[in-house]
Amino acid sequence: MSTPTLLILPGDGIGPEVMAEVRKVIDWFGDNGLPFEVSEDLVGGAAYDAHGTPLHDDTMAKAQEVDAVLLGAVGGPKYDNLDFSVKPERGLLRLRKEMDLFSNLRPAQCFDALADFSSLKKDVVAGLDIMIVRELTSGVYFGEPRGIIKEGNERVGINTQRYTESEIARVARSAFELARKRNNKLCSMEKANVMESGILWRDVVTEVHAAEYSDVELSHMYADAGAMQLTRWPKQFDVIVTDNLFGDLLSDLAAMLTGSLGMLPSASLGAPMANGRPKALYEPVHGSAPDIAGQGKANPIACILSFAMALRYSFDSGDAATKLETAVEKVLADRLRTADLLGEEGKTPVSTSEMGDAIVAALAG
Ligand code: IPM
Ligand code: MG
Repeated sequence: MSTPTLLILPGDGIGPEVMAEVRKVIDWFGDNGLPFEVSEDLVGGAAYDAHGTPLHDDTMAKAQEVDAVLLGAVGGPKYDNLDFSVKPERGLLRLRKEMDLFSNLRPAQCFDALADFSSLKKDVVAGLDIMIVRELTSGVYFGEPRGIIKEGNERVGINTQRYTESEIARVARSAFELARKRNNKLCSMEKANVMESGILWRDVVTEVHAAEYSDVELSHMYADAGAMQLTRWPKQFDVIVTDNLFGDLLSDLAAMLTGSLGMLPSASLGAPMANGRPKALYEPVHGSAPDIAGQGKANPIACILSFAMALRYSFDSGDAATKLETAVEKVLADRLRTADLLGEEGKTPVSTSEMGDAIVAALAG
């Protein structure tokens, strides 16, 4: 088989710093029998600075051709006043939409060594391992009509929540499949009490369940109650499936349960390509964190764990993924901490690159 191809898009803010650490990990696997053909390109503000667009058409075309894309982060205050159509985030949203990455997997896992870091009590989060499946290519993020229009003498902002049955069914299927590989429980979240799109969501998830996945334990929750339950007792959940906007909110909430946004990876998956691999983009859940960019303070673990997800979901290398996750666990157990994980311990944090080096050393060790 030919060497798998990987397109790296470091992006903005802390993106390039954390990606530099992922490169060390990729190189280590390359030296140890798992080589990748890596290319790198621009996205977000970095692409705007170079080309006047947050995603060049050539980059979009490359993303469609490779086996997987690995992205750092996009955005920053420097770009706040740009026209909406060329804002850094539009580059990321174009990738998600044109690659049709409808299923966004956001695991929230609490590493034992970090259970004290959560803002919640330790017994609420210790051992937590849940997976949020967020619909990523439709809903209010993309629905038409949208825009800011003039009505009489005032402006009106409009966005549309819109879901087709097939859009709901395909993300539901991917969530049921995941549940089968885990603890066989799926909770679907919407607002069927106030939104027609929520009623349809609940109906379609129920139909797919009855027809294809009746072995999986299915429950439904209103998304607001879901947020409350996620903070009250998150271990009641296994897999959660929800729409694009609720998934954006609930995944930030779930991420913070585990102590730091700097820990959480994500995978965005689409339909299988000709080679059988799914279209795929991997990225940390955290953003570009412009306040700490360029200072060596960023935690590279979320981005490194995103590469672990790539090993598992794109490259059939579950063993390598586990090896990498174990290396991360070991480094945390050895009490290495970047600034985001320091809390009140009052110790000196390690830098972004020291954390990356330690993870590579743990891989080798
Ligand atoms: C995320 C981010 C993005 C989103 C932004 C950067 C467009 O918050 O991936 O969760 O809203 O989807
Ligand atoms: Mg978000």
